[in-house]
Amino acid sequence: MDATPTTPTADNHNADHHNRAALLLDRPFTLNGLNLKNRIVMAPMTRRFSPGGVPGKDVAAYYARRAAGGAGLIITEGTYIGRDAAAAYLDVPHFHGEDALAGWARVADEVHRAGGRIMPQLWHTGLARTPDSRPACLPKALPASASTALRTARP
Ligand SMILES: Cc1cc2nc3c(=O)[nH]c(=O)nc-3n(C[C@H](O)[C@H](O)[C@H](O)COP(=O)(O)O)c2cc1C
Repeated sequence: MDATPTTPTADNHNADHHNRAALLLDRPFTLNGLNLKNRIVMAPMTRRFSPGGVPGKDVAAYYARRAAGGAGLIITEGTYIGRDAAAAYLDVPHFHGEDALAGWARVADEVHRAGGRIMPQLWHTGLARTPDSRPACLPKALPASASTALRTARP
């Protein structure tokens, strides 16, 4: 039998590194009563699949798939708060109003059933809105000229 000790190579060094990262990410995490099964957090990613601002069954299925796939915590895509100047794009889900909140309740239920946790990202686009990116159905809270002047003044 060959008793020669194995010499560390770049390959097995990298493999050790990856195994250690995987073990660390797989450890549960608790903060103020929020119990996560692991430390994998899904970043917020805007999708624009919520007609009228209401997240439907497909949105619930999308997030539940991510939880089932191993995300311990999901931060939702940006969701508009209930202010006139909050919204810039159509089909972004709202985080206000009965229908939208019922939609989110279904999303949360399905994510929990899949073993994950979820929290909303609240979005107020404000001055980042342009005349072109303002949904026609919303009141024009800020004059386009003011918005443009302020935006171009930024570094
Ligand atoms: C399609 C897409 C949509 C995104 N939407 C949001 C969003 O709604 N809110 C947010 O804070 N970040 C958003 N991001 C940024 C991501 O959350 C994430 O931070 C970023 O993709 C990771 O950084 P990197 O792309 O520079 O590697 C989005 C990214 C992508 C690719």
